[in-house]
Amino acid sequence: MLRAVERKIEQYIKELDDKGSEAILCNLPGGKRVRAKLICKIAGDHLRVIKTAAIVEMIHAASLLHDDVIDDAKVRRKSPSINALYGSKRAIMLGDILYAKGFFELNEIDKRVSSIISNAVVQLSLGEMNDVVLATVMNTDRSLYMKMIYQKTASLIEASAHAAALLAGKSPEPYRIYGRNIGLAFQMIDDLLDVTSDEATLGKPALHDFAEGKTTLPYIYLYEQLGGEQREKLKSLHAKKLSIEEQKWIGAMMQEHGIVQRCYDEAKALVDEASNLMERSGERDLIAIAQEIINRKF
Ligand code: FPP
Ligand code: MG
Repeated sequence: MLRAVERKIEQYIKELDDKGSEAILCNLPGGKRVRAKLICKIAGDHLRVIKTAAIVEMIHAASLLHDDVIDDAKVRRKSPSINALYGSKRAIMLGDILYAKGFFELNEIDKRVSSIISNAVVQLSLGEMNDVVLATVMNTDRSLYMKMIYQKTASLIEASAHAAALLAGKSPEPYRIYGRNIGLAFQMIDDLLDVTSDEATLGKPALHDFAEGKTTLPYIYLYEQLGGEQREKLKSLHAKKLSIEEQKWIGAMMQEHGIVQRCYDEAKALVDEASNLMERSGERDLIAIAQEIINRKF
């Protein structure tokens, strides 16, 4: 089924009839295709399902092209980012092209589906902006972080599951909640891997978020746990390039206060709730997708 989604994406890109864009867009690394997998598992291999999955992946890819410009990221999925290879101007325009083509095709599918997906893209954009705004100061408010990751990441995964359930004629609510939960867990694990993993495994720089100004959940919890001088030290390291010593100190503090386990347990609780909902709907494959999200290493 995923092969059919890849072919559909390729077809949509070729329809642009622009050899320069095609050469770059057809060779973008596809990543895990979590959203497409979800849509196809929920709604089967009908043509409009394949089209919806292809469109959502194109919108997601567009958002990453823009995100890498915003984050000034040089690496994406173990390869140089498009902005690193061709500059920000082309990365932005290629994102716009992918996004606009996706929306054009979305019109042809189903009014309910286009409304759910387009609303999620509004959330996605608000989330990205809030991510940027929150990084200008050291955010220590968990609820602002949770709202931002819901918008930036969970909204499109939630919309994918919701829209797929509608296309399949299934009761949408459990699927919507499932999508929201695994979307939140996905970003929480992403932010945790930034702390626990290394560049070779991740395919992008590790320990990067805090230096970029992003106070993700592990840092919010660490800030809460630390007192006095240690809290001041953490604050002084915010949005700075860290020395090896400073990196080790943050690692040791996280270890001492059980931060990694706490964040992992929280993401796991969301995935377990999602899995229980799918257990009741007899959706074994969706439980496996949820578990992959929590167990992933990159
Ligand atoms: C990755 O976050 C970014 C997102 C999931 C959303 C980006 C959204 C936009 C740029 C809004 C514009 C949308 C469109 C469709 C044009 P991250 O930086 O935390 O993850 P990373 O480490 O993988 O870069
Ligand atoms: Mg980024």
